Amino acid sequence: MCGIVGYVGAQPAAPLLLEGLGRLEHRGYDSAGVAAVSGSGLRVHKSAGRVRDLTGTLPKRFAGKVGIGHTRWATHGPASDVNAHPHTDATGRVAVVHNGIIDNAAALRRRLSDDGVDLVSDTDTEVFAHLVGRSAADTLEARVVEALEAVEGTYGLAVVHADFPDRIVVARNGSPLLVGVGEKEMFVASDLAALVRHTTTVAHLDDGELATLTATGFTTFRSDLTRTATEAHEVDIDPAAYSLGLDGEDGAPRMYVEMLEQPAATERVLRGRLDEKFGTAHLGGLNLDARETRAVRRVKILGCGSAYYVGQMGASLIEELARIPADAEAASEFRYRNPVIEPDTLYVAVSQSGETIDTLLAVEEIRRKGGRVVGLVNVVGSAIARACDGGIYLHAGPEIAVASTKALTTMYVGFALLALQLGRVRDLSIADGRRLVAGLRELPAQIEEILKGEDHLAEVAAGLAEAESLFFIGRVRGFPVAREGAQKFKEISYRHAEAYQTSELKHGPLALISPEVPTVALVPDDELTDRNVAALHEIAARGGPLVVVTHPGVDLGDLTARRIDVPRSERELDPILLTIPLQVLAFHAARVLGHDVDKPRNLAKSVTVE
Ligand code: AGP
Repeated sequence: MCGIVGYVGAQPAAPLLLEGLGRLEHRGYDSAGVAAVSGSGLRVHKSAGRVRDLTGTLPKRFAGKVGIGHTRWATHGPASDVNAHPHTDATGRVAVVHNGIIDNAAALRRRLSDDGVDLVSDTDTEVFAHLVGRSAADTLEARVVEALEAVEGTYGLAVVHADFPDRIVVARNGSPLLVGVGEKEMFVASDLAALVRHTTTVAHLDDGELATLTATGFTTFRSDLTRTATEAHEVDIDPAAYSLGLDGEDGAPRMYVEMLEQPAATERVLRGRLDEKFGTAHLGGLNLDARETRAVRRVKILGCGSAYYVGQMGASLIEELARIPADAEAASEFRYRNPVIEPDTLYVAVSQSGETIDTLLAVEEIRRKGGRVVGLVNVVGSAIARACDGGIYLHAGPEIAVASTKALTTMYVGFALLALQLGRVRDLSIADGRRLVAGLRELPAQIEEILKGEDHLAEVAAGLAEAESLFFIGRVRGFPVAREGAQKFKEISYRHAEAYQTSELKHGPLALISPEVPTVALVPDDELTDRNVAALHEIAARGGPLVVVTHPGVDLGDLTARRIDVPRSERELDPILLTIPLQVLAFHAARVLGHDVDKPRNLAKSVTVE
C-alpha cells in the first residue's frame, strides 16, 4: 500500500526520492509525488500513474536538498493528480505525505471549510497539511504536535515546511516508519527496501513517537516534546537482495523469480534449526524454555489471506505432531469478537511483511490481555516482529511480488519446526521426530523437482485459464491447500476460483459442476484417497473437467483427468508439496491471460490500513 520516502542532506532531493519511490512500487500504488524545500520555497510534483512517468515529467529546476515522496494506494477519493500526495496547506508552504487513515477526517474537513479553507482534494491527508499550516507555534515540531492533537486514526507521516527548510518532521502511529542514517545525510521511509541502497543503519520509530531529521542527525521525541532514547542500529540484511526492481535480472516477473527461489529459501529457514540426534528443532528466538513449552495447552494461529491459509496448514501440523489442540483464524476478524485470551494458549502471528495491520492489531489485543504471542515473520525488525514476545524469522529474502510464494513455503516449514519443538517435549517419539527431520531435509530437492515440471504445468494452466470459474477441492490436510490454490489463482488470473472441502461438494456446490467449470482436486496418497477418488467420479459423471494433484502410483482408475504428480514425502509434509504446483498453475494461467502477475489489479503487497 502507500509508501513514504524522505531525504535531507547535501544532494538534490528529488532524484533520490524518485529512486526510493521506485523501490516501493511493489507495495502497490496508483499515484505518486515528491515535494522539496529550499530557500526559494516549496515545490511539489505529483500525478496519477507510475513513478517512471513522474520521473519523466520532473521539471528541470526542482531545487531542494530536503524533500519527501509518496506512492499512494487510494482510500479516500479516486486515483487522480489532485489526490496524489504530497498535500499542501493553503499557503503552499507546508507539504505532507501520509500512510494510514485519519478517522475523523470528515469532521475536520467540515471544520476547516467552515473556517473558509478551500480543500482541493478528496483525501484525509490534506486536512493535516492545513492543520500544520494554521499552527502558529514556534517550531515545526510543535506545529506537527498541535496538528496531531486534532487527529484520530493511524498514521506514518512526514512534513516539510518552507519556513523550516533544514528539516523533516515525521510521526508514527500504526504505520511503520524507519529513519536511515547516512554520512551527513538522513533518510526516512516506510519500508527498508527504500533505504538499503543508501544505508543499513536504521532506527525504527515506535507508535506515538515523532522524529526530526536534519543533515547532521535525528532526534526522537513524544508529543509532549520530551526526548526518547530510540537509537539506530545496523540491520542484518544483504542490500544486494533488494537490488532487483519489479522484474528479475533477465526481465522475468518477480513472482516467477520468487517461485524458483523456494528451494534455497527452504534451506535458509531450516539452517541451524534441525537436530538429527534428538529428532527435534531448536527455535531459540521463541523465548520459551522447556517448562513453558510443556505448559502450552492450546495454539491459536493468526494471519491474513494466504498467511491465514498456511496458518491452517500449520495448525494441522501442530495437532498431528504435538497433539495440542490448534486452530487458525483470520486476524482481521479476531479482535472484533472480543476473544477470550487464555494464559496457557500460545498465540502465533504469521506474516511475510510483518506490517499487515490486522495481524498487528490482533497481536496488540492479545498482549494487552496478557497473552503470549510468538511471530513467524519474514521482514526483520518489522512492526509485528517487534510487537511479539519472541518468534522466528523466515529468511525467505525480500518478497516483492504481490502474490506470495516463497514466504508461504517458509511459513509452512516454520510451522513444521514449531510443531517438532512442541511435539518433542511431549509425546512425539524420537523415531517420529527423526523421520520428520529427514523429511524436512528432503524438501528443497522435492520442491526443485516440482518446479522442473513447469512445462506440463503451463500446459494444464492454459486449459484452466479458459474457464470463467473453477473449483479447488481437498480434504483435511488438503483443504487449506485448496484455499491457497484458489486464492493464488483468483489473485492474479482474475478468474473466479472457489475452494471447497471435497466431502462437502454433495451438499451444494455439485450443482455448479459442468463442462465449463473445471475442478483442481488434491488427492494425496493417504487414508482418504479412495473417498477422494470416488468424489472425482461424481464430478466426472457431470461432465466436470478434472486436474488431479496427487502422488505417483495413486490409481485414478478410468477417470479422465489431467494428472500432476508431486514427490512423496512424510505425509505430514504433503501440504507444502501439493501447494507448489498450484502456484505454477496460477502463474501460467495469469500469463496466458496477459495479466501483469506482479501487480494484480486492486491489490497491494502489504495491507497497512483496515
Ligand atoms: C498472498 O498471495 C496475498 N498477497 C495476501 O493474501 C497476503 O498473504 C496477506 O495480505 C498477508 O500478508 P502478510 O503475510 O504480509 O501479513
